[in-house]
Amino acid sequence: MQNESGFPQHFLWGGAVAAHQVEGGWDQGGKGVSIADVLTGGAHGVSRVITDGVQPGKYYPNHQAVEFYSRYKEDIALFAEMGFKCFRTSIAWTRIFPDGDEQEPNEAGLQFYDDLFDELLKYGIEPVITLSHFEMPYHLVKAYGGWHSRNVVDFFVRFSEVVMRRYQHKVKYWMTFNEINNQRNWQYPLFGYCCSGVIFTEHDKPEEAMYQVMHHQFVASAKVVSLGHAINPDFQIGCMIAMVPIYPYSCHPDDVMLAQEAMHQRYVFSDVQMRGAWPAYTLKEWARKGYQIQMDADDAETLRNGCADYVGFSYYMSNAVKHDASGVDDPITGFDGVVKNPHVGASDWGWQIDPVGLRYTLNALYERYQKPLFIVENGFGAIDKPNEKGVIEDDYRIDYLRAHIAEMKKAVAHDGVELMGYTPWGCIDCVSFTTGQYDKRYGFIHVNKNDDGSGDFARSRKKSFGWYQQVIASNGETL
Ligand code: BG6
Repeated sequence: MQNESGFPQHFLWGGAVAAHQVEGGWDQGGKGVSIADVLTGGAHGVSRVITDGVQPGKYYPNHQAVEFYSRYKEDIALFAEMGFKCFRTSIAWTRIFPDGDEQEPNEAGLQFYDDLFDELLKYGIEPVITLSHFEMPYHLVKAYGGWHSRNVVDFFVRFSEVVMRRYQHKVKYWMTFNEINNQRNWQYPLFGYCCSGVIFTEHDKPEEAMYQVMHHQFVASAKVVSLGHAINPDFQIGCMIAMVPIYPYSCHPDDVMLAQEAMHQRYVFSDVQMRGAWPAYTLKEWARKGYQIQMDADDAETLRNGCADYVGFSYYMSNAVKHDASGVDDPITGFDGVVKNPHVGASDWGWQIDPVGLRYTLNALYERYQKPLFIVENGFGAIDKPNEKGVIEDDYRIDYLRAHIAEMKKAVAHDGVELMGYTPWGCIDCVSFTTGQYDKRYGFIHVNKNDDGSGDFARSRKKSFGWYQQVIASNGETL
């Protein structure tokens, strides 16, 4: 039921992580090597390296992550204390199918997630599950070339079917591919690799290869949506995109047009998954560039029948483009013409802070699809320093989240956007995706583990823990 001034009664307040960024236990319980297991640690301005297999002597932060694999009960008790209604994580594909192409799943991996979901449900916390969050089996990359191969569609559908059947009475909310549009930035190997196990710059026609991969993933996503609805008609299965709205730098018509074209490069991902067909602007682009995307005869019907139920998205920042700017090499956006927006601030990692952009985004997505939305990531990555009593007083994080929730509330209460929930990213400190750092932190819960190798993984509550607790308790009224 809609509360006139704010959030609906059953709004899903919670937090989000991904298996590879929290679990650790990378070789336990029969788990196979995932693509995250071959990524070294990096830093701000120092890229993570994709190694050829796991190499001795190299540092791979995701191998241990924050030991959620063995400490999840303690962590879930803390989520419950904060009042979480839901918890978003992923199922590590390699715990279920260690190599990805086996016929039979690994029972130990399935049991782990049974136990994890039971623990959540014990506290009335709904699991929200991403099927693929940057952690596909490494074997599928080596043996098949990742998602460039059509074979991977079947492997992914098999994996998804196994877990959707197994957890059909425990999990209602699903998403297929996390931030599927990151690979649009194919120039930057980490993004393509994490989304689909492909380093696009190694292909003769990288952009065409990216479209081929996208097509395979869209078909896989649509098949999984149809299958999921057949397994349990109550399932809510979303797509998941990284939403970074791109503003025109000025009202110069060429800036406005450039921004619209840049947004097409984001929207194409949700357009196919929400509307069930490749959009005209992309078909025209393929024709212009002479791209030939291989499709099976029944793919169009598969896409049409497998539209997602809601738009899940992450929101951290906005960007701006200027038609006469020289091409800016920005690894986060990858778009030509990206310039700093002089009207907003930025985090230490250069992510521009723009709460109003969240309301703008919610309206833009709702007007485009008229489907429920779910903010499944939002947050502020920062270096946290304990005070003399050992407590982290993360007012900067509270300020960021407060401002974003206030805008989100306007979108719901003033603009009428249908919003299902809000799961801030990294509710417990975890390994950063882009840099592999521990020191880039998002959590309400501090994990004592640092990039210099120190720390015993002990958990403690930050100031934001108590703040978020009262946000949830008041259903967003007390910010
Ligand atoms: C999103 C990802 O890109 O942003 C997460 O879905 C990631 O996996 C999050 O961790 C924050 O990015 P980072 O690089 O600060 O960890």
